[in-house]
Amino acid sequence: MIKEKILVIGACGQIGVELTLELRKIYGGSNVIASDLREENELLIGTGPYVSLDVMNKEMLHVQVIRQNITQIYLLAAILSATGEKNPSLAWHLNMQGLLNVLEIAKEEQVKKVYWPSSVAVFGPTSPRKFCPQHTIIEPITVWAHSHSLD
Ligand SMILES: NC(=O)c1ccc[n+]([C@@H]2O[C@H](COP(=O)([O-])OP(=O)(O)OC[C@H]3O[C@@H](n4cnc5c(N)ncnc54)[C@H](O)[C@@H]3O)[C@@H](O)[C@H]2O)c1
Repeated sequence: MIKEKILVIGACGQIGVELTLELRKIYGGSNVIASDLREENELLIGTGPYVSLDVMNKEMLHVQVIRQNITQIYLLAAILSATGEKNPSLAWHLNMQGLLNVLEIAKEEQVKKVYWPSSVAVFGPTSPRKFCPQHTIIEPITVWAHSHSLD
């Protein structure tokens, strides 16, 4: 059985902390590498490895993927709604270029799985409000939602 080595990018955010802790329960603390721009979240301290990483620094990201023999990547680094609306080009740049960096490295290093979340916010005011189908009108009204609606 191939041992999974997982890199969580944006691990100190709202989703990242919970997700990292759960993944560590499943795969073992040392097999889940938490990474973020910020300082390590206190809830993660002592539960497994932490590296400081900017997803926009493709070279640094590439080095980590090779050095740690990463087999799966969870990409959670993003600029969300309120901040994104204040600085749409920054949000677009991070949300799109960050994803492209991950995808290109994953392809080159044959990383088996890449997880990248969408959001309920991809559905805009013209989407059906009840029982919204998976495939339907999405006319998002924020830059954050636009950058998540390409999956
Ligand atoms: N929170 C939710 O309920 C929710 C729901 C649906 C989808 N999502 C999606 O999940 C993802 C994470 O959401 P969240 O709520 O945890 O966001 P968050 O803002 O709490 O966390 C994002 C993390 O990314 C880090 N980050 C920012 N720029 C970075 C960079 N250049 N390099 C590395 N790390 C960087 C931040 O420091 C932060 O810790 C987003 O794509 C969001 O749209 C979140």
